[in-house]
Amino acid sequence: MDLPFAESFKIKMVEPLRRSTKEERAQWIKDAKFNLFNLKSDHVFIDLLTDSGTGAMSDRQWSAMMVGDESYAGARSYYNMKNAIKDILGFDHFLPTHQGRAAENVLFSVMVKEGDIVPGNSHFDTTKGHIEFRKAKAIDCTIDEAFDTTINHPFKGNICPEKLEAVLKQYPKEKIPFIIVTVTNNTAGGQPVSLENIREISALAKRYDIPLMFDSARFAENAYFIKIREEGCADKSIKQIVKEMYEHADFMTMSSKKDAIVNIGGFIGFKHEEIYKQACTFNIMFEGYVTYGGLAGRDMNALAVGLDEGTEFDYLETRIKQVEYLGARLKEYGVPFQTPVGGHAIFVDAKKFLPNVPKEEYIAQTLGVEIYVEGGVRGVEIGSILADRDPETRENRYPDLELLRLTIPRRVYTNNHMDYIAATLKNVFDRRDQITSGFKIVTEAPIMRHFTVELEKI
Ligand code: F0G
Repeated sequence: MDLPFAESFKIKMVEPLRRSTKEERAQWIKDAKFNLFNLKSDHVFIDLLTDSGTGAMSDRQWSAMMVGDESYAGARSYYNMKNAIKDILGFDHFLPTHQGRAAENVLFSVMVKEGDIVPGNSHFDTTKGHIEFRKAKAIDCTIDEAFDTTINHPFKGNICPEKLEAVLKQYPKEKIPFIIVTVTNNTAGGQPVSLENIREISALAKRYDIPLMFDSARFAENAYFIKIREEGCADKSIKQIVKEMYEHADFMTMSSKKDAIVNIGGFIGFKHEEIYKQACTFNIMFEGYVTYGGLAGRDMNALAVGLDEGTEFDYLETRIKQVEYLGARLKEYGVPFQTPVGGHAIFVDAKKFLPNVPKEEYIAQTLGVEIYVEGGVRGVEIGSILADRDPETRENRYPDLELLRLTIPRRVYTNNHMDYIAATLKNVFDRRDQITSGFKIVTEAPIMRHFTVELEKI
């Protein structure tokens, strides 16, 4: 008999989970104003809000924590991180930051000005927030296939070269500080970008003399999909593929809370010394001195080890096979979701799941609340609450897709948890016809409203 797949790790530290009743959860979510971010984590049984900073570090990472160098300037831990970034990603210059959005803040302070245009593939919400905060505009050039959850395209995260070229033709190059390549494309469903697409976009960028910036939160999962799905890449190691991807980058920002499997941390990588030097000033102002940037020495050490572990095939295979396992269970129950499954999450197609809830009543949020009450499973809305208002017209934006993301933390839950999650969704799916109304907004912040929005049942 063929031996079945099994995880490439064993567990040596555990954390208890608390169960609760449906009645308790119905009250807790009401008290939280129907915003899943407002829940106490103790009131959540399985937490799929995010894969960011929620992973389990390895024994190697914990031991690296113990030998962190906490010197203010020139710490050994800084050099460990510098060497890992050079070896794995090929950048000569870098600045540590406390997380991904901080890296965006520092880099964009140098590069993005009022009136600028930043094309890319489905800019992440903080990325878009930092662009719009500077009165610049993000233009999404993701391929059309990404917006139909039923299409089985291997690289749904790709940038459409025609859409991108139209933007590059329309605006003068002085107005376009860089093009953003988000690997994987989180908002479109954790979907990868192919090496072929990276090469094509890079050639286009060179032709118009515009730099390429990689938003690299899930770069290693992207490399895994390239190895598995792209022709001619099966025999390359993940580390080789990563090197090839980053040959095309001028800059990168990374939230290391994802693929470097740390609880906090991020950085900016620079190929050009001049921009690095300008960014140093902003790093010192916003983050901390250039050799720690808001991180403890122990955090930088864990991050350096995480970059190495996160780009190992066995780890990535275990990780992504678990997401696929959940996808297979949900498929058996007929639950509609973005296919193929992404690297870090299942993105449930809420419009298809709850066809009777009007879009003005926040379909994906409604689904998120239902699933929480049903089983204590917390997902996150990637829909019209997150899409926010148009900064100019202040009208609500309704994206093509209303998604509920079930984000799987790295090395945290077992496949029994995956079975439980799938059963929770099945129970809600079975009574979907009775769910006909959603929510209205009572209060919201002027930017990135999803974190603090308060809702009322309709
Ligand atoms: N870019 C991408 C693609 C991301 O997914 C995130 C964070 C960031 C940048 C910002 O990084 O959180 O470290 O400041 N994504 C998390 C998520 C929050 O849940 O998807 P950060």
